[in-house]
Amino acid sequence: MSKTKEIMIVTGGQPLEGEARVSGGKNTAVAVIPATLLSDEPSVIENVPDIDDVHVLIDILRDLGAKVEYEPGVRLLVDPRGADGWQVSFRRAQKLRASYYLLGALLGRCNRAEVASPGGCKIGTRPIDQHLKGFMALGAEAEERGGIITAEAKELRGSSVFFDIVTVGGTINVMLAAARAHGRTYIYNAAKEPHIVDLANFLNSMGARIKGAGTDVIRIDGQERLHGTTYAVIPDQIETGTLMICAAATHGDVTIRGCIPTHMDALSAKLLEMGAHVQDQDDAIRVQHKSALRYRAVNIKTQVYPGFPTDLQQPISALLTVANGTSVIQETIFEQRFRHLDEMTRMGAHVRVMDRTAIIDGIPQLFGAPVTTTDLRAGAALMVAGLMAQGVTQIYEPEYIDRGYEHIEEKLRALGAQIRREVIE
Ligand code: EPU
Repeated sequence: MSKTKEIMIVTGGQPLEGEARVSGGKNTAVAVIPATLLSDEPSVIENVPDIDDVHVLIDILRDLGAKVEYEPGVRLLVDPRGADGWQVSFRRAQKLRASYYLLGALLGRCNRAEVASPGGCKIGTRPIDQHLKGFMALGAEAEERGGIITAEAKELRGSSVFFDIVTVGGTINVMLAAARAHGRTYIYNAAKEPHIVDLANFLNSMGARIKGAGTDVIRIDGQERLHGTTYAVIPDQIETGTLMICAAATHGDVTIRGCIPTHMDALSAKLLEMGAHVQDQDDAIRVQHKSALRYRAVNIKTQVYPGFPTDLQQPISALLTVANGTSVIQETIFEQRFRHLDEMTRMGAHVRVMDRTAIIDGIPQLFGAPVTTTDLRAGAALMVAGLMAQGVTQIYEPEYIDRGYEHIEEKLRALGAQIRREVIE
């Protein structure tokens, strides 16, 4: 996070128009970067977004002894030959959730890892019991104690891992460790998100043998060695969705290029149900709603892929505060993902939150107000709210947004948004 304190200032009411290009996927990049440690040869990753989470991971890899060169927008080179470290400090790990992927990557690389408990967005309790259970199934001893997670194995052995719940992080961590284990691993009840498939493709391009990613059973034949690779990560599904929602929210007309439209089906269906016009092209999506007519209220239940993604629940719920009617949102993945709605009541939103359900009574117009970001996607939701509101919205703690959105203000400004940062101390 930046040292000077800044606020984001959004003047609402401008319809967004034109074209935007989506960046590389955050949740893929943060898995692929640690995965480079599974080889002893250099790897080049393209399309890595220039976001704070990536910069922290680069620092972690350098701490471990890897050589890393990053040219944003061009390539990230990781040369892991000197990486003989196996510990990740609290100072680094608490800055992002994905620091826990160093557990699987280091276990696979050197059979031991010690990583301080991860940070990341405060959107629920976020236990890691399933990750530890997976490592133990592969023959490691693993525990979390005193704020440190340790995992160690004499030898990692392929095994069957049955997840009690569908977990993206757990699936990724077990894939990482199992890619270098002796023998075959099956992950049952695996997550199916696009970044799981992308990580499998990345590992396979290093010589791993992974099948079934994108289904709920993944088979991994562990390899003694993996080689270096050159690989481009997929476009960011959540940035694509956020831009789609911004376009709809401002009654604009935006074509989002460089995305994968099929990853967006759950959101596209919801926007269509609300009354927006959504058109898929080969690698682009056009969202338009030039009409002054208010959107229809809809109900949303977040689910694992291909259901409606929890990461887009916050931005779309901001839009629903001005829909015509009452929307009911059920958040089934994280128990504290409605804090942006509390903030939005300052802007006039009519919202009741009961446990994991939010009931939103749509009003015709939001009004600009000072609001505070509480996590990454809450920040995105407040940007959506600010773009729609009458008057000026000041978003405090916008650093959260920098963790996961590459150059988002420039992209929005290019579409006609009035959005900028101001240093306040
Ligand atoms: N869970 C457990 N035990 C575990 C692991 C997870 O109980 O061992 C629970 C969690 O508490 C949660 C549910 O299972 O209730 C799902 O968690 P999951 O493991 O799938 O999520 P995650 O790995 O912590 C990743 C993304 C999130 C995204 C979720 C769901 C990264 C770094 N994070 O989190 O991204 O919301 O999957 O898709 O990939 C974001 O980008 O803003 C973000 C929060």
